[in-house]
Amino acid sequence: MNSQQWMDLSETVVAHTYARYPIVLVRGKGTRVWDVDGKEYRDFVAGLAVCNLGHCHPKVVKAIQEQAEKLIHVSNFYYIEPQIRLARLLCDHSFADKVFFCNSGAEANEGAMKLARKVAKGKMNGDRYEIITMEGSFHGRTFATLTATAQEKFHKGYSPLMPGFKYVPFNDAKAVRDAIDSKTCAILIEPIQGEGGVNCPSEGYLKTLREICDEKEVLLIFDEVQVGMGRTGKLFAYEHYGIVPDILTLAKSLAGGVPIGALLIKKEISDGFKPGDHASTFGGNPLATAAGVAALTAILEEGMLENCRNVGGYFLSRLGEMKKKFPFITEVRGKGLILGMELSMDGGSIVKEMMQRGFLINCTMGNVLRFLPPLIVTEKEVDQMLEVLEEVLKKIQ
Ligand SMILES: Cc1ncc(COP(=O)(O)O)c(C=O)c1O
Repeated sequence: MNSQQWMDLSETVVAHTYARYPIVLVRGKGTRVWDVDGKEYRDFVAGLAVCNLGHCHPKVVKAIQEQAEKLIHVSNFYYIEPQIRLARLLCDHSFADKVFFCNSGAEANEGAMKLARKVAKGKMNGDRYEIITMEGSFHGRTFATLTATAQEKFHKGYSPLMPGFKYVPFNDAKAVRDAIDSKTCAILIEPIQGEGGVNCPSEGYLKTLREICDEKEVLLIFDEVQVGMGRTGKLFAYEHYGIVPDILTLAKSLAGGVPIGALLIKKEISDGFKPGDHASTFGGNPLATAAGVAALTAILEEGMLENCRNVGGYFLSRLGEMKKKFPFITEVRGKGLILGMELSMDGGSIVKEMMQRGFLINCTMGNVLRFLPPLIVTEKEVDQMLEVLEEVLKKIQ
């Protein structure tokens, strides 16, 4: 079947929850993907920060193949070798003492918020259940994570939302301090907001939040679903800011493209969960965690963090140069290889034009072009993409 036939079939049988672009992707390798008609694209979306290692990284493919022949799934009633290995690796390379595995970012955030409530009810005084989140945040699509997501457009049609949430502006530590009361158990924050438009924390902001949480005995949860696993040039984004959270959530790129989620937890916090308190059928299953071990090892051993810092720095400086040329570029920002170009107009048509010219990029919040290439992208590939982007932008001017 050609792409049109696949798209026609999709319209009849797949639920219409996505406004899809008219291409059918069938193959990927490194920074490139191909559609069913054989057209090649450079991928600066990378599954929205899932394919940090590039598509079909050989070590991840091999790990999946080998694990699939041995054991694909067993219940969490039993110990699972690759699950233990991945937890060990994550603890060795982070602040965490314990890991809970699940299957997605939303599920990781659900788990983190459940744990915060458990800990608050068990250890802290009184009935503390409220969670403070930031305007412009994105934490997932389940009822609790949707409510945590402080963006009205995602809430429409789903009322009543979950009780127990308060929203404050991003980058306003005083607003957090003022919002905390005797009911507050946790603050949930993306260290860099991804879906909200690649919004970076201002100098000292996250450190101040840590201080406030310590002073008020409130848990600090970092949602690193999008910015974790090397995306910012360090394995975890919190490492840039001289502080550690109490709980950190991961998903997306943790298993190199196989669905997975995880909570990284300090020991004294993880004790809040007792056997039977929380669970997931597929969480940490052999296939996903074997892929996770391979993916994490490759990120650490193949210089991807360094490449992310170097190419990311180059990319951001090139975006800065473009900003000088086009008055409708209002800001460029980001860290490592999560970069944004804010425009004074809608960016949707630019994404479509880029796609026709063989480059996949993304636009979030309507007017922020977002670049999330695999961490193996080269300066040359960045130049190639920006050359074409410049041509497209010139047509607008
Ligand atoms: C920061 C953040 N948290 C949570 C999620 C939800 O992850 P998932 O779609 O795997 O549930 C996302 C997804 O984009 C995200 O970017």
